[in-house]
Amino acid sequence: MDAMRSHTRPIPPLRHRIDGNRWVSIRPIERADAAGLSDFYARLSPESRHRRFLSCGTRSDADLGRVFTEGDGSGFVGILDEPGPNDGAVVAHASIQSDDEDSAEIAFAVADEFQGNGIGTALMRAVVQHAGRAGLRRLNAMLFATNVPMRRLLGNAGCAIRSDTVDFGVEEVALDVAT
Ligand SMILES: CC(C)(COP(=O)(O)OP(=O)(O)OC[C@H]1O[C@@H](n2cnc3c(N)ncnc32)[C@H](O)[C@@H]1OP(=O)(O)O)[C@@H](O)C(=O)NCCC(=O)NCCS
Repeated sequence: MDAMRSHTRPIPPLRHRIDGNRWVSIRPIERADAAGLSDFYARLSPESRHRRFLSCGTRSDADLGRVFTEGDGSGFVGILDEPGPNDGAVVAHASIQSDDEDSAEIAFAVADEFQGNGIGTALMRAVVQHAGRAGLRRLNAMLFATNVPMRRLLGNAGCAIRSDTVDFGVEEVALDVAT
């Protein structure tokens, strides 16, 4: 939905400290992120890809960068801010794909080596803030029912859980965005 890009006030970048002098900046995705996003998905472990896409096969990594930056959805990236060669790398991604006028499907991925450091929680904060400003009333997520970190992210998002169902090991959670 283009409205999700154009009719909302920009959300200032959010900085999340990982440790010592390593930070991750969370900001809205831009077209120029396509190559960085493709690299990010190429580096993701098979297990994390499986959890992210709920399947083994996905589009090629080059396609993913393009799809997430040129499609009609939006989202956020986490950019590494640390001295050294990896400075500026994409290390996290939250996609927001519109389902209809006032609801969207959300999905998250954090680089394997940075999982468990609160980056997913920071991404969720940005997504919920964006949803409120964009007039979205519902955020939907699909995850494996065994995916404890993702389920905790959803439960701690600050939104009421409208529905939560499990079918053949896949959980669908719908969150009500506070208006
Ligand atoms: C799911 C994912 C995005 C979470 O991001 P993250 O940066 O690791 O999450 P956080 O560090 O913010 O932790 C989120 C919650 O999960 C908990 N958690 C993190 N790692 C955990 C683990 N290995 N086991 C149990 N709980 C864990 C944290 O304690 C936190 O819960 P709390 O706030 O109640 O303490 C990340 O693990 C990931 O990319 N996984 C692979 C892709 C995926 O599963 N995507 C979801 C499909 S939509």
